[in-house]
Amino acid sequence: MKRLLTRAATAALLTGVAPVMALSQIVEPTAVPEAPVFAAQGEPNFVKRSDVFEYRALDSYSEPDFVKEFVEAGKLPPVKDRLPREPLVYKTANMPDGNGVYGDVMRHVIGGRPEGWAYIAGNGQGWGGIDIGLYECLTRTGPLFMIESEDLAPMPNLARNWEWSEDGMQLQVNLIEGAKWSDGDPFDADDLVFYWDHHVMDPEITPLNGATQDTFGKGTTMEKTGEFQVTFTFTTPRPEAVLYAMAYGTFCPGPSHVMAPLHPANSDNTYEEYRNAFPPGYMNYPVMGAWVPVEHRSDDIVVLRRNPYYWKVDEAGNQLPYLNEMHYRLSTWADRDVQAVAGTGDFSNLEQAENYVESLRRAADPNSPARLAFGPRTIGYSMYFNFSGNGWGEPDDRRQAIRELNRNPEFRKGVTQVIDRVRLGESLVKGPFTAQYPGGIYAGTSFYDADSTVFYPYSLESAKAHFAAAGLEDTDGDGFLNHPADVLGGANVQVTLLASNSYQTDANLAEGVVAMMEEAGIRVALDMLSGPDLDATRDAGRYDWMVRRNSSEYITVVQRTTDLAPVGPRTAWMHMANDEGELDLMDFEAEMVETVNAFIATNDAAERAELMKKYQKLHTENVYSVGLTAYPGALIINKRFSNIPPGAPIFMYNWAEGAVMRERVFVAEDAQADHELFPETLPGEPGGDGPVTVN
Ligand code: GLA
Ligand code: CA
Repeated sequence: MKRLLTRAATAALLTGVAPVMALSQIVEPTAVPEAPVFAAQGEPNFVKRSDVFEYRALDSYSEPDFVKEFVEAGKLPPVKDRLPREPLVYKTANMPDGNGVYGDVMRHVIGGRPEGWAYIAGNGQGWGGIDIGLYECLTRTGPLFMIESEDLAPMPNLARNWEWSEDGMQLQVNLIEGAKWSDGDPFDADDLVFYWDHHVMDPEITPLNGATQDTFGKGTTMEKTGEFQVTFTFTTPRPEAVLYAMAYGTFCPGPSHVMAPLHPANSDNTYEEYRNAFPPGYMNYPVMGAWVPVEHRSDDIVVLRRNPYYWKVDEAGNQLPYLNEMHYRLSTWADRDVQAVAGTGDFSNLEQAENYVESLRRAADPNSPARLAFGPRTIGYSMYFNFSGNGWGEPDDRRQAIRELNRNPEFRKGVTQVIDRVRLGESLVKGPFTAQYPGGIYAGTSFYDADSTVFYPYSLESAKAHFAAAGLEDTDGDGFLNHPADVLGGANVQVTLLASNSYQTDANLAEGVVAMMEEAGIRVALDMLSGPDLDATRDAGRYDWMVRRNSSEYITVVQRTTDLAPVGPRTAWMHMANDEGELDLMDFEAEMVETVNAFIATNDAAERAELMKKYQKLHTENVYSVGLTAYPGALIINKRFSNIPPGAPIFMYNWAEGAVMRERVFVAEDAQADHELFPETLPGEPGGDGPVTVN
């Protein structure tokens, strides 16, 4: 408020400036400014996918002594009968510290809260690696950061191998045979069919990470063709991208044996009841992951114990995981950094730039319990416009007017030139961390092309000229731009900005945007929410602009490719179809969609590179999003853990919790600490009380 007078005074001076004159003040796009050099610490040891693991039978298998006691007491089948005939075998040569030993815990701290365990029905588990550890997916991409570029393709996982038909229209996927859910129930093609038919294809359900039929290519179908085999049929030949869509988080099946009876297709349950049928207090939920939830204390902790049926082993025949227990302290994301450097937590993706200086200072102490290593600049934030102009989420007149402005290129160019990216970055952290990010594909990644990237430099004068060209003028001299007289009676433009309040960085960036927009005479009100409230508001279309930490599509391009543009009626938050399913794409968006679909449809490397250049040009020139900042993240892991692969980035194909392969991480005997809350126990019956002892 106290700056209002000055602004009004300035505004008064500007009143009467004719749009023609204003246009002459437009500052044209430039090359992207050079980012400060920031070298990643530690290079991956690049290998082939087949160097990491294989599927084969070993002569014998072993397990922790306390698990053997369960077998001896007749409470568990022998380990060889719990494993598939040919388990997934991690190769010793690829383990940084070799085969491990059993014991100890990895203590995570997370800012989210579990809504329930039914990931495929849309329940969140609180993030921070908890769902990544519970769910296994057909393919795996997290560890690809260490795969040689010539061999870059998704790794097998639950899908042991796959084969394309000669015409490329079909893909036969062979599952691992004889693997079991953590309660001993067989895992087979029926679990996949249940996921596909009753979740992906059911419009009433959106699995946690948003898989829809479009995620697998328009018109794709999937059928069971054997006990351990499914076959996909496509409408275009050889869409290799589907192998990435089969990884986290879009093809991670759930336990059909406990879920199917409660699905609305087979019961009187409503969809809402189904989604909530496995609340956080439902213990021992069957998983294919290495650890099973056995304890939940609200706002305190979730504890997971080792899955006695886990289907991965080391070359010595030791059933994995090595770690007996996993903790997820239910706290805040900022506390995750604090605890990891202090040694009361074990793991953090240092990603909130506000915490960098203090964390670096503490980690530099040779006695620090944790090691901290920076990776590439893959943490980035953008602001998105709500582009739906035809009624999605039933906007009122004010919202509709903003959506129409959002669809106006002059308005978007104005908005992006209001953002002083140097100041915004420095408001998070000073130093060589943040880069000026124009939006779209990140600099330094393989599909990035600087010449195809359009950067609109910061210039308030230019922004104002663009706004004037969009018909916005401060007609009442209060310092804020007004709509033209025939829109909302010429009222002040008033925008809402949706952002997460779970992270300091999101809050700071959103507040920075608000302050900068004010300087340009645009009034923005913050709508700060978290968790399910944020998701619900976004999914209902109740926002005008949204600040968001970007996902992997702008890093790898091959992962979540369909998120690069609104390829389907309801696949892109920033542009959703109305209730009639109509998507009112602007011309440049239609071109982006075409480009993305062409990318998915070809495997020609040169063509793909060209298509992504075109995509980046369309995205940045038309200001599809407003890039805010991009910076590197650091992985913090307690020094007692072994087998952490060098150069593991906190975020690339997946988060570090997936990339480091926690099932083969261990703590050397002499470094083991007494952290187990439920020693000597295993998960009990699904829906039962929690962990059980042998007696
Ligand atoms: C959250 C955290 C990330 C990462 C992911 C894993 O988003 O902010 O650092 O741990 O969860 O899902
Ligand atoms: Ca005004």
